Amino acid sequence: MAKEIKTIGVLTSGGDAPGMNAAIRAIVRKAIGNGVKVKGIKKGYMGLLNEEIMDMQKHDVSDIIQRGGTILGTARCVEFKEEEFQEKAAQICRKHGIDGLVVIGGDGSYRGAQALSRHGINTIGIPGTIDLDIACTEYTIGFDTAINTAMAAIDKVRDTSSSHERCNIIEVMGRNAGYIALWCGVANGAEDILLPEKYDFNEQNIINNIITNRKRGKTHHIIVNAEGIGHSTSMARRIEAATGIETRATILGYMQRGGSPTCKDRFYASIMGSYAADILCEGKTNRVVGYTNGEFKDFDIEEALNMHKEIPEYQFKVSKILSQ
Ligand code: ADP
Ligand code: F6P
Repeated sequence: MAKEIKTIGVLTSGGDAPGMNAAIRAIVRKAIGNGVKVKGIKKGYMGLLNEEIMDMQKHDVSDIIQRGGTILGTARCVEFKEEEFQEKAAQICRKHGIDGLVVIGGDGSYRGAQALSRHGINTIGIPGTIDLDIACTEYTIGFDTAINTAMAAIDKVRDTSSSHERCNIIEVMGRNAGYIALWCGVANGAEDILLPEKYDFNEQNIINNIITNRKRGKTHHIIVNAEGIGHSTSMARRIEAATGIETRATILGYMQRGGSPTCKDRFYASIMGSYAADILCEGKTNRVVGYTNGEFKDFDIEEALNMHKEIPEYQFKVSKILSQ
């Protein structure tokens, strides 16, 4: 029989993402609506180990749906990979009467959630990362805001690129994944889009492309480069030396992780948060919430972590054709 759930905890872990607050709000309100108490845990697994735990009421999540970041704070906690600390965290949960926990984060955070499940704390994960790199879901909270922020920035760089007849490399985040680069590259009409999953490290192709485009009369040249490839500054130096065209690099960095979440991020976060609270209150454990084929679903964590996600081939081919 499923364990009776009286109190749940919620924490955010790994890199923050716009929409995490909307997810926290949904979890708190849905769980309280289900007759379950909620405790907020500050600063991810680190805060759990330090017992930074507080009661949360419905009014504690007022006025946060529109805010970027996470009101609970987040952290990367290296010790949590060790059995000793996972066992200690489970004991702390029991001490505070926490029967179940929602973890909002990426796949590293899911490993921590899996460990807590193994130690008897019912745990559910929600995909919160700007990188879109979680295989069991077509959507991760924060992605939409990040790509819109990056898109607006790249449009601005393009203006000055045209005025100065320069080549501009813009590096976007995504860790080892190229989804932000792919989406922005297509949406910004970039001349070259470099994805870690696809890049052949043949810089001569890029150089030839710049020279051909310049001969055709294009005044700007935008290269969207993914963080997973990196080295944008040295790439710019080499391109300038080879083409004779002034080339600059801009690394967008953390601005992509902040800001008020888009409608899409708030909506997905609200539904995923509610879904997680519901299945946790039903007594489910060791699951992660995902969105596939138009439906919100839950998956076994191990199964979710073993799934593989690739850049869709058709989207990649289109990105190549449209940039010519
Ligand atoms: P994300 O969740 O965004 O992928 P990280 O990979 O940095 O971000 O993971 C966030 C946190 O999750 C880590 O700082 C650590 O506390 C925890 N974590 C990561 N990997 C593991 C693991 N193998 N076992 C237990 N906890 C882990
Ligand atoms: O996972 C989100 C992300 O912003 C990645 O795109 C990036 O590689 C990483 O986090 C940066 O992490 P940190 O905040 O530790 O610099």
